[in-house]
Amino acid sequence: MRILVLGSGAREHAIITSLLGEAQRHEITAAPGNAGIAAVVPVVALDPTRADIVSQFALDNDIELVIIGPEAPLVAGVADALRQRGIAVFGPGKAAAQLEGSKTFAKRIMDAAGVPTGRATRAGSLEEALAAIDEYGAPYVVKADGLAAGKGVLVTDDRDAAVAHADYWLGHGAVLVEEFLDGQEVSLFLLSDGHTVLPLSPAQDYKRALDGDEGPNPGGMGAYSPLPWLPEGFVDEVIDTIAIPTVRQLASEHTPFIGLLYCGLIVTAEKGIRVIEFNARFGDPETQVVLPRLVSPLSGLLYAASTGELGSLPRPEFSDDVAVTVVLASEGYPEQPITGRQIYGLADVEDVTIAHAATALVHGEFVATGGRVLSVVATGPDFAAARAKAYAALGTIKLEGGHYRTDIAKRVAG
Ligand code: AMP
Ligand code: GLY
Repeated sequence: MRILVLGSGAREHAIITSLLGEAQRHEITAAPGNAGIAAVVPVVALDPTRADIVSQFALDNDIELVIIGPEAPLVAGVADALRQRGIAVFGPGKAAAQLEGSKTFAKRIMDAAGVPTGRATRAGSLEEALAAIDEYGAPYVVKADGLAAGKGVLVTDDRDAAVAHADYWLGHGAVLVEEFLDGQEVSLFLLSDGHTVLPLSPAQDYKRALDGDEGPNPGGMGAYSPLPWLPEGFVDEVIDTIAIPTVRQLASEHTPFIGLLYCGLIVTAEKGIRVIEFNARFGDPETQVVLPRLVSPLSGLLYAASTGELGSLPRPEFSDDVAVTVVLASEGYPEQPITGRQIYGLADVEDVTIAHAATALVHGEFVATGGRVLSVVATGPDFAAARAKAYAALGTIKLEGGHYRTDIAKRVAG
């Protein structure tokens, strides 16, 4: 198949690695990609949020499937433009992407569909926000309503910090104040063709920057899959109580969800499974641990989702191997990452794959160009083995000031 992958992160690199690993050969192009992606497939320097430019490129190059990685092109309506031109595209249109783009929209859909989630109050003024903050009490959860590049959510016991966060984001729009949900977080990805869903394997993301879940919450410092501690029937319960009702609700509003429904869940002791957020795309870094375990060909699944034919496919199969990924971040991440430093040792790592995120080739050497630089991905028969490989590789890779969490998947490694 001739496939165009939009995006430039580790998620897109992981998607491309999975496509390249299939028995069937594909012609893959990435736009704009990154230095790691450019080492394996052709890349084109086009702006993936420009619907006109992406559509023209897809038409000129006889692209059969476009896979949209990040949220920005979705919210910009790139999938709509491609679909209008008859090109199969994995990714929801602008309207359905509001499931991620607007927390207020997501809450409305969840309410209408009867999907279990935390209580939330939308506040348009500081007065309303203060009232909600005191109604729900500590720990406080305050969220910006729109896309906020991972900076919009604050969970804190400090009331002053909660108020300051609300005050800041009210300058950009509305905020949501939410009930705090206590429990383990699960990311479950479901492929949707607008009507039918098929689940991928659950993963857990480590959102905080520092070991022990300390520090800021930029999202995505590491992940593992599967989750051996999940109760029996978990995936089916999410399908029945969350994914199907959500997809049906969006279809009934004539905004079908075609793409990846990312259910960000909390498994609470008292209330069972609750949605904390939906995303409209593959998660990063969870994709890096879900796809290496996928046995069924990814291209067939994404194409079937894009063309309304998921109902004719069996559930995707996953290997019994486990996967662990650890993100290498630049010094100063997330506040003020220092960039431009050379990354050494990438050619010397063994038995892992590397998903590049913020890298560039300068005079033939990889340098870090952003905060989250790359993901090291390891698989193995158990978590102790996969962790050992991942951390051995991180010991080999050298980036001045670079840091990573040392406790990814530790709790399941025995
Ligand atoms: P979100 O962008 O909505 O996923 O929020 C980012 C992170 O903040 C989540 O992954 C959780 O770790 C945390 N969080 C968000 N909402 C809540 C909540 N209602 N209760 C507890 N933690 C939350
Ligand atoms: N792993 C969090 C996200 O992709 O939003």
